[in-house]
Amino acid sequence: MSATRSVEFDVKDIGLAGQGKQRIEWAEREMPVLRLIRERFAEEKPLTGTKLVACAHITTETANLARALQAGGADAVLIASNPLSTQDDVAASLVSDWGIPVYAIKGESTDTYNRHVRTALDSHPDIIIDDGSDVVATLLKERADQVKEIIGSTEETTTGIQRLEAMQKAGVLPFPSIAVNNAQTKHFFDNRYGTGQSTLDGIIRATNILLAGRNLVVVGYGWCGKGVALRARGMGSNVIVTEIDPIKAVEAVMDGFRVMPMAQAAPIGDIFVTVTGNRHVIDGEHFKVMKDGALVCNSGHFDLELNLVALRELAGDPQTMRPFVEEYKLQSNGNRVMVLGEGRLINLAAAEGHPASVMDMSFANQALSVEYLVKNKATLTPGVHLLPKEVDQEIASLKLRALGVAIDTLTAEQLEYITSWETGT
Ligand code: ADE
Repeated sequence: MSATRSVEFDVKDIGLAGQGKQRIEWAEREMPVLRLIRERFAEEKPLTGTKLVACAHITTETANLARALQAGGADAVLIASNPLSTQDDVAASLVSDWGIPVYAIKGESTDTYNRHVRTALDSHPDIIIDDGSDVVATLLKERADQVKEIIGSTEETTTGIQRLEAMQKAGVLPFPSIAVNNAQTKHFFDNRYGTGQSTLDGIIRATNILLAGRNLVVVGYGWCGKGVALRARGMGSNVIVTEIDPIKAVEAVMDGFRVMPMAQAAPIGDIFVTVTGNRHVIDGEHFKVMKDGALVCNSGHFDLELNLVALRELAGDPQTMRPFVEEYKLQSNGNRVMVLGEGRLINLAAAEGHPASVMDMSFANQALSVEYLVKNKATLTPGVHLLPKEVDQEIASLKLRALGVAIDTLTAEQLEYITSWETGT
């Protein structure tokens, strides 16, 4: 751990700051909504005196969120929400150019990751921005004495919200938590178009493979799966979807995809992408029957969707073929299974995550959720909350304005019609 501008930090190389700053400023050009919020925050200072811990993928987009929070008067400590997603130049620049304490190194061990979570909690935050709920879970498990200091938390991802809802059900969630992921301006865009594009970007950067003509199996047809399937079809892949939810399966069929159980997809897939949020959706029995050279990766939050322990039992230690590509040779038949990005989020491990233009709306939601928690701390009750619908609509309106797109408004007659019941045929 080192210090610069009297800020503590743990980053790979502070000398990378120059490149990081340039890239952060490049991303900012595509984040007009967040910029407007930053400018308002700089004038109004709504977060003055607020201590924040932000656990997020340390990317150029997250850096722009951190700038907005800082402009609003918050003191933020940043830590990685995944051991493989940190952009080391961005981490260096946040420390060196903005004086923000960052604890994040690409490729850090699980022990270092957990140590960073605890170091961040040592700063005694009032608000936690979480991505996957590891900070909130650690707080509840290890820092009972700090719980009363917390105004609330915000949660970025589907998986994190599942965990918060489980905490709420178990009666252990002691503060309000804003489900940022559930805002429409978040999951309609970030999960669908962000994951769709960045996942294919990660697969292509890791392997340089041609997607056209390949059988690409999308495991899970939630918003992320829909995006991956849509974009893979656009690149010419023959997309197969696997699902456990009958409604989502019907959607996939009517969107024009083949739907089948994983046991049938495993021997015919060339590329597999898991986006379910659940564990072992590709298991030993599936690896056993895959084609020679099958590529397998994950774009769900945690690295447990692929059962890599089972794969290792079938194949022994892997051989690294390229950065983020490990080849497992099955002892039974000699077939090779390529695992990308160690089964961690391939879009952030091998590429740069979602493009700034979608993160603009996700992080506008984050910034406004933090402001909402501060403004409403006296009245918000413990539990999982949505941001008010008007905030969602305001973010969409600002995005449209930034994109130069105008839309219609209801006439008085139309408003009257849709808010009354008397008029029928
Ligand atoms: N999650 C997915 N893409 C991201 C990005 N570019 N920055 C932060 N979090 C992300």
